[in-house]
Amino acid sequence: MKVAVYDTQSFDREYLTRKDWEFDHALSFFEAKLTPETAALAIGHPCISCSVGDQLDAKTLPLLAGLGVKLIALRSAGYNHVDLNETDRLGLRVVRVPAYSPNAVAEHATALLLALDRHIPKAYNRVRDLDFSLQGLMGFDLFGKTVGLIGTGKIGSVMAKIMNGFGCRVLAFDPKPDAILAAAKQVTYVPLTELYMKSDIISLHVPLTPETHHIIAADALGLMKNGVYIINTGRGALIDTRALISGLKTGHIGAAGLDVYEEEEGVFYQDLSDHVLKDDILARLLTFPNVLVTSHQAFFTREAVTNIARTTLQNITDFANGLPLKNEVRAETHLIPPTPVLRGRVAV
Ligand code: NAI
Repeated sequence: MKVAVYDTQSFDREYLTRKDWEFDHALSFFEAKLTPETAALAIGHPCISCSVGDQLDAKTLPLLAGLGVKLIALRSAGYNHVDLNETDRLGLRVVRVPAYSPNAVAEHATALLLALDRHIPKAYNRVRDLDFSLQGLMGFDLFGKTVGLIGTGKIGSVMAKIMNGFGCRVLAFDPKPDAILAAAKQVTYVPLTELYMKSDIISLHVPLTPETHHIIAADALGLMKNGVYIINTGRGALIDTRALISGLKTGHIGAAGLDVYEEEEGVFYQDLSDHVLKDDILARLLTFPNVLVTSHQAFFTREAVTNIARTTLQNITDFANGLPLKNEVRAETHLIPPTPVLRGRVAV
């Protein structure tokens, strides 16, 4: 099948065209993100493949349908950027990669936590200056600490097991508790307020929905322990970043490890080293010594990228062969109105 691959990064090209794949599709790679202006690149391709930064909204989707596109193969698990009411109306089928490596994300959350706790970025820079002093590098044992997990689905449950391995007490909140985790005493489910009040470390593993939008805001932060560590590998808008900054300024928040950020679109995945950062909120975040920001890379392991490529190609093959699309998403599975793709940065 002819596939137009939007928002191609070098690893997309490498993994989607691996010689050992049994798939046989004609892939056209475009670095451009999908917008109404770039939709025409899809001419002659009944399938397009998209990433999280592509604009799959009511402006672009009719253009794609008009060009004869039939299938949108997302290379992501999340689909909150797709207007599924519009794809349903236009008869466009949408498939995704529901799980590619929960281990990758949970391990990255752990990396953020350890790096902050043991001041690894500071220590790394310091010894390169031949400064071998210990001043300011004291951390704490994870053993015996209380970790609060918001969401215990695929990623949160891996995180629970990792934290168990460190000897932490794991509290969790999830409207659909995992009976196996609870029975094995790997987590103790508690109301959200109790989790906020008792946790030394809080890690977010929920999808972005109307209920979870700004789940960490001023009121939640007010309930948390002094010195709490907050780790977010979920979605940026789970946290009200301005409230987080206020908590960091007072010292109430001990540290924050953020792989995602509310306004990451247009910044993350880009080399802006020759540019001025226009987002004042992100700029402020980056000034804190106890904040570690990574560029939405928690998923980025060889294993996960292999799984993304394989599932994407299998989804396309199933469509081409008229088989049921087990990874299809439709409007009724949609949880949140589509997030507009932000073109400018927020300046405050
Ligand atoms: P999942 O669907 O397996 O688990 C999500 C869990 O959240 C479910 O158990 C669900 O019941 C729970 N949940 C839903 N609403 C909740 C609420 N209001 N409060 C508490 N729990 C709630 O999803 P998975 O695979 O564990 O992924 C979680 C999130 O991680 C994704 O939605 C995505 O946003 C993010 N993610 C981030 C990546 C990265 O590279 N940083 C990569 C992949 C996913």
